[in-house]
Amino acid sequence: MIKTKLTEMLGIKHPIIQAGMGPYNTTKLCAAVSNAGGLGIISSIGMGVVALGFKPLFGFENLSPREQMLSSIQTIKKLTENSQGIFGINVPVAVEFQPVAGELINAALEARETDSEVAKRLKVIITSAGNPEPYLESIKESGAFHFHVVPSPYHARKVERMGTDLVIASGHEGGGHVAFDPVHTMVLLPEVVRSVKLPVVGAGGFCDGTTLAAALALGAVGIQMGTRFIATQESEFLPSYKNFVRDIKDTRDTVVTKGLFGNLRYLKNPAVLKMQELARSGAPEEEQFRFEIKSMEAIETGDVENSAMPGGEVAGRINEIPTVKELIERIVKEAEEIIRVKLPKLVV
Ligand SMILES: Cc1cc2nc3c(=O)[nH]c(=O)nc-3n(C[C@H](O)[C@H](O)[C@H](O)COP(=O)(O)O)c2cc1C
Repeated sequence: MIKTKLTEMLGIKHPIIQAGMGPYNTTKLCAAVSNAGGLGIISSIGMGVVALGFKPLFGFENLSPREQMLSSIQTIKKLTENSQGIFGINVPVAVEFQPVAGELINAALEARETDSEVAKRLKVIITSAGNPEPYLESIKESGAFHFHVVPSPYHARKVERMGTDLVIASGHEGGGHVAFDPVHTMVLLPEVVRSVKLPVVGAGGFCDGTTLAAALALGAVGIQMGTRFIATQESEFLPSYKNFVRDIKDTRDTVVTKGLFGNLRYLKNPAVLKMQELARSGAPEEEQFRFEIKSMEAIETGDVENSAMPGGEVAGRINEIPTVKELIERIVKEAEEIIRVKLPKLVV
């Protein structure tokens, strides 16, 4: 077992957080991670897009953000009844998403308030991609923990002053949205640790025991993984997406390009190269936007050549699709072995 401030704070077994993965439904994945002793996270962008005028995708229904969030929480509560696993939600608070961010956060707080079982186990609200200040007071009042994702020591210090409980330092190698300044985990994580008194979790590039041990050595209290959890048996991602992650063999096979809400890192394929070309050639915003939406939707057909699939550089290090339990237990065992056996041997 690896005990850190993160495991103690939340009462979880392993210092591993499953990343919120925006447009995709991660209800079952969240339950599997929570059952395996990590922190499972409900992703929420897909719950909000209908209210913003888009059609529901990736297993989401034509419901309000509040109804979707409450339904996902109830499903996870049931699926984790035996393990009494701990879970949380991720809500991006970018300006573009603000019309629904408050509704999603309030739905989770409402569930905590009206259901003692949920209050006991839905312990964390993770915000990202914007300013969490308008939501902090109600989160803290409800007794939940607040974590915020940051791309720099500057942002970490800023949210520390606001009263957040933990920061997640997210390096540029990560999948999905990335900051405009390309600072990677190896530089970002230890500098964020040095800059704040809060506990810090590392995100971007983590996938195994070696990288967990490295994060702990850099001063983190745990890791958050996105891309690695896509390629697991229980994740709701379509088999074609999972297989695509598994089959990437080169750490260069991702592309950062301009997306709807800022820069995103995608798995490299013809669709994403076309997106990059449209952005670079200065094509009209409307055309870029239409192409991005079409490419995001295409994954539902299983057509991986014409789909835009967010994913991190670490896809080049992922070669199989294990169960979540196998994955988490293997990561922790490998990290323990490195910390207990391999590293001490180097000190003479
Ligand atoms: C498919 C996908 C969707 C993502 N959507 C979100 C999101 O909605 N909110 C968020 O804070 N981060 C999002 N991210 C970033 C992850 O939360 C996480 O920080 C990142 O995946 C970590 O890097 P890794 O992919 O190397 O593990 C997404 C990542 C992926 C791969």
